[in-house]
Amino acid sequence: MSAPKKLFIKTYGCQMNVYDSERMAEALGGQGYVETKTADDADMILMNTCHIREKAAEKVYSELGRMKQLKVKKPDLKIGVAGCVAQAEGAEIMRRQPMVDLVVGPQSYHRLPEMEAKIREGKKAIDTDFPEEDKFEKLKSRPKAKRGPTAFLTVQEGCDKFCAFCVVPYTRGAEVSRPVDRILSETRELVERGVREVTLLGQNVNAYHGASANGDLTLAQLIWELDKIDGLERIRFTTSHPNDMMDDLIEAHGTCAKLMPYLHLPVQSGSDKILKRMNRSHTAESYLRVIERIRAARPDILLSGDFIVGFPEETEADFQATLDLVEEVKYGTAYSFKYSTRPGTPAAERPLVDEAEASDRLQRLQALLTRQQREIQESMVGREVGVLLEKPGRLPGQMVGKSDYLHSVHVGDCDRAVGDLARVRIVSSSTNSLAGELIR
Ligand code: SAH
Ligand code: SF4
Ligand code: F3S
Repeated sequence: MSAPKKLFIKTYGCQMNVYDSERMAEALGGQGYVETKTADDADMILMNTCHIREKAAEKVYSELGRMKQLKVKKPDLKIGVAGCVAQAEGAEIMRRQPMVDLVVGPQSYHRLPEMEAKIREGKKAIDTDFPEEDKFEKLKSRPKAKRGPTAFLTVQEGCDKFCAFCVVPYTRGAEVSRPVDRILSETRELVERGVREVTLLGQNVNAYHGASANGDLTLAQLIWELDKIDGLERIRFTTSHPNDMMDDLIEAHGTCAKLMPYLHLPVQSGSDKILKRMNRSHTAESYLRVIERIRAARPDILLSGDFIVGFPEETEADFQATLDLVEEVKYGTAYSFKYSTRPGTPAAERPLVDEAEASDRLQRLQALLTRQQREIQESMVGREVGVLLEKPGRLPGQMVGKSDYLHSVHVGDCDRAVGDLARVRIVSSSTNSLAGELIR
């Protein structure tokens, strides 16, 4: 038998890409590939790319330029581009960088084995279709190896919302929910392999409506099914849309012990004028009312959000409305971005905000969000939380894991194993993490 070929996957973008990269590695495992951690010794390099902002997309080409050097030294090396840039740019990628052998869009990953065979013969392979078949069902040939205690699991993919700034409906396609039984069996397998926490993924995960023997289930109903799986200790989900925060999901946050007190609920802007132009179909007020209902169900929930500043025609007053909304919500963590024009989206035609002005707004927003993050972290000091231990820390005897609220926690003098769910008292807070001690 010949030695296994080595596969290096570099993953950019969102958590769904992390999940997809694992599936692609498994699919290519069947073609005799094992994963390697560096590009230098790889026989095949796969870049799983993100198209969400211009910078993310351009990074792909600079990275491909670097990989070209590797291919000069090792002509047999195969280079593939997957993910949302592959979907958005297709054959254009090979025109700009002719040494690329393979381009595969997110809905065609189950066709990777055939594509790999084709490029081994020295041909090029491109697939950016939106096929009918269920790619995850076709990708199913999972190894049973042990793995870390946390896992992502895609339950819904694609988006029909068409926010005016966003490429996702074009790169991931229409919204599709995976059937309930597949999600349950995949979760059971993960638990057998050592997983204690799953994060259910979807571009609009709270719009989930997957088929089951008893008709379609909502996300909350799916969570209750997962709740029954012994050995699974924690459930999370991301990303949610404010308009799809259904009553049963809000209620589950108060009643399902495995559902963690953390919710990522992007608002993008606090100005109704801008929200309308973004085609977000919610207002600042309706968003705040959703937050109120969630906090009534689960008062200690940690909220996270996404923001875009400098959207076309955003004035200082519009931006001020965003700051006001942030002041009112108080976020535990947040992601904020300067608007980036994406070709083909409706907003791409509109007049831009002055670059320096947009940068200044981003700085002011981030200063406020950072202050809120610090305050909420500091409020954790003295509290008792659950921490799922993920790996040893840098100091002897130390372990690192995530709290129920998704804070990174360093636990000192910790004689517990990876995968244990420890009770921990938080003793201090630093910039991006907390420190705690075991409650014995
Ligand atoms: N499905 C999620 C988020 C998808 S993209 C949702 O609906 O909220 C992740 C984040 O990237 C978005 O929430 C938005 O804040 C940001 N984003 C998307 N397109 C962008 C653009 N053109 N410029 C800047 N930020 C953008
Ligand atoms: Fe993009 Fe809007 Fe869909 Fe989120 S809801 S993926 S921001 S189009
Ligand atoms: Fe990026 Fe595609 Fe995810 S554009 S954020 S990798 S869905």
